[in-house]
Amino acid sequence: MANDFTYYAPTKVVFGKGAETHVGKLVKEQNCKKVLIHYGGGSAKRSGLLDRITDSLEKEGIEYVSLGGVVPNPRLSLVYEGIELCKKEGVDFILAVGGGSVIDSSKAIGYGLANGGDVWDFYDRKRTPQACMPIGCVLTIAAAGSEMSNSSVITKEEGLIKRGCNSDVCRAKFAILNPELTMTLPPYQTSSGCADIMMHTMERYFTNTMERYFNQSENMDITDSIAEGLMKTVKKHAVILMTEPDNYESRAEVMWASSLSHNGITGCGTDGGDWATHKMEHELGGMFDCAHGAGLAAIWASWARYVYKERVDRFAKFAVNVMGVEPQENDDATALKGIEAMEEFYHSINMPTSIKELGIDVTEEQIQEMAEKCIVACGGFAGKVKKLYTEDVANIYRMAK
Ligand code: NZQ
Ligand code: ZN
Repeated sequence: MANDFTYYAPTKVVFGKGAETHVGKLVKEQNCKKVLIHYGGGSAKRSGLLDRITDSLEKEGIEYVSLGGVVPNPRLSLVYEGIELCKKEGVDFILAVGGGSVIDSSKAIGYGLANGGDVWDFYDRKRTPQACMPIGCVLTIAAAGSEMSNSSVITKEEGLIKRGCNSDVCRAKFAILNPELTMTLPPYQTSSGCADIMMHTMERYFTNTMERYFNQSENMDITDSIAEGLMKTVKKHAVILMTEPDNYESRAEVMWASSLSHNGITGCGTDGGDWATHKMEHELGGMFDCAHGAGLAAIWASWARYVYKERVDRFAKFAVNVMGVEPQENDDATALKGIEAMEEFYHSINMPTSIKELGIDVTEEQIQEMAEKCIVACGGFAGKVKKLYTEDVANIYRMAK
C-alpha cells in the first residue's frame, strides 16, 4: 500500500531564457531591505551573470552586499564569514547565484542568522533549526537539486567532516532556472550533475518496506512512472550534451529534472528511499574533495551488487524500464544486466565507476575511517534496501576501490 505522505514544495520556479532578469522583482516581492549576493569561484562573474543580477536589483532600488568564494563541497569557515557579514550589514535576504554548493552555503548562513548559536550544531545533529533567513536562487548548474530541496550539505575543514542538515524551513522562496546559464559548464561538471540528478531519483526508487511481506506493493505506480520517466529523460539528454553542449532543449530537460529529482515528488508514497550511496559519497567528498555526482557514480554499482538480492524485483524492474535491458532468464540475471548497463552509461558520459577511476588511490585505513564516520553520520546504520553497518560500508568501498 502506498505510504501516507505530505508533499511540500513551496519554491516558486521561474524557468526559461533570460529568467534571471526577473530577479529584482522576485526579491522585491519578499519585502526585504538588504540582500547578500552569495556566489562561487568566479564562473558567475566571468559569464556576466553577476552584472545582470546587480542591474536587476538596482532597477528595483534594492540594496545589496556580495560574498563570493564558495567552493565545491562548501566550507564551514565561509559560512561563519557570511553570518558575520550579514549581521554587520543588516542583510535580511540571501540570493544564491551558483550551484548546489552556493545554495547550501546560503542555507547554512540563513540557519546561522535565524537561530543564533553555532550553526554547525545543526549539521552535527545537536540541535534542529527552527527557522532560516529567506533565500532565493539563480541556478547555474543542474545537479544537486538544492534549489527546491530541504537539504544543505556543508564540510567542516577540521576533521574533513561533510554533513547534511534537512529541514523544510530552508526551502528557497524562489528558483530562477535559465538553461542557457548552464552552457558554460565544463563537460565533466555537466556529466557529474546528470549522475547526481539520476541518483536523487534512484535513491528514492530503491526502497524496502515491510508491506511487501504482506504481498502489497510499497510503491505507487504514479511515483514509479514519474521516477522512471525522469531517469530515462536524464540518461538520454546527458548523452546528447556530450556532443552538443549548447543544445537548449537538452539543457532544459536536465535542468528541470534537477529540481524535480530532489523536490520530493519522486518519493511520494514510498518509504523515503535508501540514500546509502549518498552517505558513502559524502565521506569521499569530505576526505578527497571530489565532485559529488562523480563520487556517486564511482560507488553506485558496488552498492547495487552488494544489496540487489534484497530487492531483486525492483532492480529487475529498473533494468527493464529505465536501462532498456531485455528480460533475462530470471530476475537475478536481469538485475545484474541493469547494473552493468548503468556502468556503461556512466562511462559513456565520462563518469567513473570506481574510486580509482575517480582519481583516488584509497588506502585500507582511509576505507575504515570513512566507513566509521559514515555510520556515525547515519546514526547507526545506512540504507533501507539492506541495512548496512560499518563492515558492510567498508566492504562496498573495497568493492568500489
Ligand atoms: O564556483 P564556480 O566558479 O561557479 O564553479 C563551479 C564549481 O567549480 C562550476 N560551475 C557552476 N556553474 C557553472 C560553473 N562553471 C561554469 N559555468 C557555470 N554555469 O561547477 C563547479 C561545481 O559547482 P557546485 O555548486 O559544487 O555543484 P553542484 O550543484 O553539483 O553542488 C555540489 C554540492 O551540493 C551537495 C554536494 O554534496 C556538494 O557539496 N549536495 C546538495 C544537495 C542539496 N542541498 O539538496 C543534495 C545533493 O545530493 C548533494 O549532496
Ligand atoms: Zn546528490
